[in-house]
Amino acid sequence: MRSAGETYNDRVVHQFTVATVVWGIVGMAVGVLIAAQLYWPTLGEGIPWLGYGRLRPLHTNAVIFAFGGSALFATSLHVVQRTCHARLLSDRLAAFVFWGWQAVIVAAAVTLPLGYTQGKEYAELEWPIDILIAVVWVAYAVLFFGTIARRRVRHIYVANWFYGAFIIAVALLHIVNNVSMPAGALKSYSAYSGAVDAMVQWWYGHNAVGFFLTAGFLGMMYYFVPKQAERPIYSYRLSIVHFWALIAVYMWAGPHHLLYTALPDWAQSVGMVFSLILLAPSWGGAINGVMTLSGVWHKLRTDPILKFLIVSLSFYMMATFEGPMMSIRTVNSLSHYTDWTIGHVHAGALGWVAMITIGSLYSMLPRLLGLRAMHSVKWVDLHFWLHTLGVVLYIAAMWIAGVMQGLMWRATNADGTLTYSFVEALAATYPYYLVRLLGGLLVLGGMGLMAANVWKTYAAARLAGEVEQPVLPPDAAAART
Ligand code: HEM
Ligand code: HEM
Repeated sequence: MRSAGETYNDRVVHQFTVATVVWGIVGMAVGVLIAAQLYWPTLGEGIPWLGYGRLRPLHTNAVIFAFGGSALFATSLHVVQRTCHARLLSDRLAAFVFWGWQAVIVAAAVTLPLGYTQGKEYAELEWPIDILIAVVWVAYAVLFFGTIARRRVRHIYVANWFYGAFIIAVALLHIVNNVSMPAGALKSYSAYSGAVDAMVQWWYGHNAVGFFLTAGFLGMMYYFVPKQAERPIYSYRLSIVHFWALIAVYMWAGPHHLLYTALPDWAQSVGMVFSLILLAPSWGGAINGVMTLSGVWHKLRTDPILKFLIVSLSFYMMATFEGPMMSIRTVNSLSHYTDWTIGHVHAGALGWVAMITIGSLYSMLPRLLGLRAMHSVKWVDLHFWLHTLGVVLYIAAMWIAGVMQGLMWRATNADGTLTYSFVEALAATYPYYLVRLLGGLLVLGGMGLMAANVWKTYAAARLAGEVEQPVLPPDAAAART
């Protein structure tokens, strides 16, 4: 059914949705592979591009920027149009953002296994790719804010604030952290050195967590939780406090990654204090999401999409409680370098980021296609259980392994010698690596099921015929006249 008036640009949203599922499977498959390498260290031995050191950054870049990034593009470009009652600023720009981002991903997938890296975590890509990222990102900012500028409603819905903050902050972080001097086509040296380099890097690294892996996904929460629950957000006032508190505090917490290093002591203390304060806005926002279900809790029994969304918030609360605790110096002296950090990362990454993404896509896709539901709601439910079980196995194994490693490394005998050698601690960790591998396989299996469900849902939509929704819904148009 085609409408005579202006329609939304759903094409780019569909493209990024499919990209999210595809890159999610690729990135998580690499995660499973490196989890297997930690259990069977000779896997891939002798083949440089299959080495753990090259595949690990491939995993982090693929899951954060290809999977997470595509999900953020898909949902933000959907949400901004629907909440502003306006078509995207430019279809060409939208196409450029999609293909430009895919080019970045392919460039990363080629250069990282070949060993080209700046050696900065989460900012490994070399300078020509960094420039491409900056160009695509500016185009994305123009597209997003340009659409807000042509909105037909006065109000800017809170989800857009979070997406907007994420876009501005990531531009700033990316550009500042990647200032470097090229020394060849794929080689460069950072403009910073020593402790300053470390500080800039972790200002970037922590805010990549705060703005890429948190603020943007909170934008998803503010749109899709109320949508799926069919209830308004619990407290609009709280969402405003949440927004300003979160963006004001996150920027200062980076030094918690550099405790007990050459960084000045006062800077470490600032990082620790701001990390502790961060607990409040993080939980405030999560509670705002969870309480949106007030009065409709029973829906959790029947709607697996809501289960994805609400359980993601529980994992978010878990990670944002654990993070401030790990920022306390004495706790960090135990957790740092151990698998506890890896457990924390994946409580956030697999529990929060992946689950809110999966829930939001399941919620968005049928609406986008004019269908009542995904091809199979039962598959969504099965996916929920596979994913939840996988995450729990992963993080529980890493927590136990991490605390055990920390305690074994620091144990001393009465004469001051170490009780355990490093290899003994490593040997004790092996069973937990196997459990993590199993958890990863369950999560990956769930993603396979999602891909099948998405495929079948598109097939059902093709049978039903193309649907293009008008920018002004009929009721809003009627209200205006
Ligand atoms: C099937 C799912 C996944 C598996 C099996 C998996 C596995 C792994 C493994 C084995 C590592 C290396 C740990 C180490 O060096 O000791 C790792 C690191 C990491 N993964 Fe995953 N992962 C998965 C999904 C994800 C997702 C969805 C994200 C993000 C959205 C993510 C983000 C990260 C990050 C940021 C690190 C680096 C952590 C650090 O340096 O402290 N992972 N992952
Ligand atoms: C209140 C919020 C949070 C605080 C205060 C916090 C704090 C911390 C601390 C103290 C570490 C360990 C640093 C170290 O010993 O090296 C850490 C590591 C990490 N956290 Fe969080 N965290 C928070 C939330 C999150 C969330 C929600 C995510 C993911 C979505 C996340 C992702 C990570 C990653 C990827 C690392 C590993 C960085 C690396 O060493 O490669 N954090 N966090």
